[in-house]
Amino acid sequence: MPLVTLKSILDKAEQADYGVGSFSVMNMETTIGAIKAAEETNSPIILQVAEVRLKHSPLHLIGPIMVEAAQKAKVPVCVHFDHGSNIDFIKQALELGFTSVMFDGSHLPLEQNISKTCEVVKIAKSYGASTEAEVGRVGGSEDSSEDIEMVITKIRDASDFYEHTQIDALAVAIGNVHGVYKREPKLQFQRLNDIDKVVAAPLVLHGGSGITVEDFRQCIKCGIKKINVQTATLNNVVKRVEEFMRLNEKADYFAYQHCIIDAAYESVKNHITAFKSNNRI
Ligand code: 13P
Repeated sequence: MPLVTLKSILDKAEQADYGVGSFSVMNMETTIGAIKAAEETNSPIILQVAEVRLKHSPLHLIGPIMVEAAQKAKVPVCVHFDHGSNIDFIKQALELGFTSVMFDGSHLPLEQNISKTCEVVKIAKSYGASTEAEVGRVGGSEDSSEDIEMVITKIRDASDFYEHTQIDALAVAIGNVHGVYKREPKLQFQRLNDIDKVVAAPLVLHGGSGITVEDFRQCIKCGIKKINVQTATLNNVVKRVEEFMRLNEKADYFAYQHCIIDAAYESVKNHITAFKSNNRI
């Protein structure tokens, strides 16, 4: 099964009304776990790494692992660069074979976000890749380093943005935040519905960790087709390794390595079922 674009994965999700998980991977182990979950459940999958994470997982190392894993997978896999702001990194990801990039200009005035996104769309197209962008601002921050205030996406902004950029997927802020939710998330489904009516591209939900299965499914009904998940995978890895260390004082390195793979697999598989992308191949 080939490495595919975000557009091709999301077109199918739109037709059959399910969501596709975009799972952050940090290393070979989490990549193996995520692909295993997708293959076992016959689900398409998106593997992603965010620009802020490159200090932990350098692009020239993690990128080839992701692309190679995708090329060898038995299910369709998109390899996506998440929250790109630096054009050089975006180009490097495309050179490495990523099939989708996000340009995050959500902190910029709308016009600047539009013009920079158009630049990225043009570059991505020259590689045959898809582009995601964001309007409004998802709260929290990708690496928990700051507490960015959420700015709910305005319907008119989303419509203008789409008209000028024609991006392949649009990330929206509807009460979702990156990282651990400090209080129960209250997603604005009416706003989501209204945005979906004026934007022809599939919508993206960032901050997927900590949202209930019921809310995921309601989001999918209202136009969300790509759901980003990172914290849930990281936390499950830490929890499972801690448990393993408590129970196995003398375990060797490879036992820990398998524990990381299994924990990533378990979390990704649960999300695939919640998004109903299983048995779609
Ligand atoms: P979480 O860490 O909250 O799952 O968010 C992931 C995300 O949106 C990456 O872009």
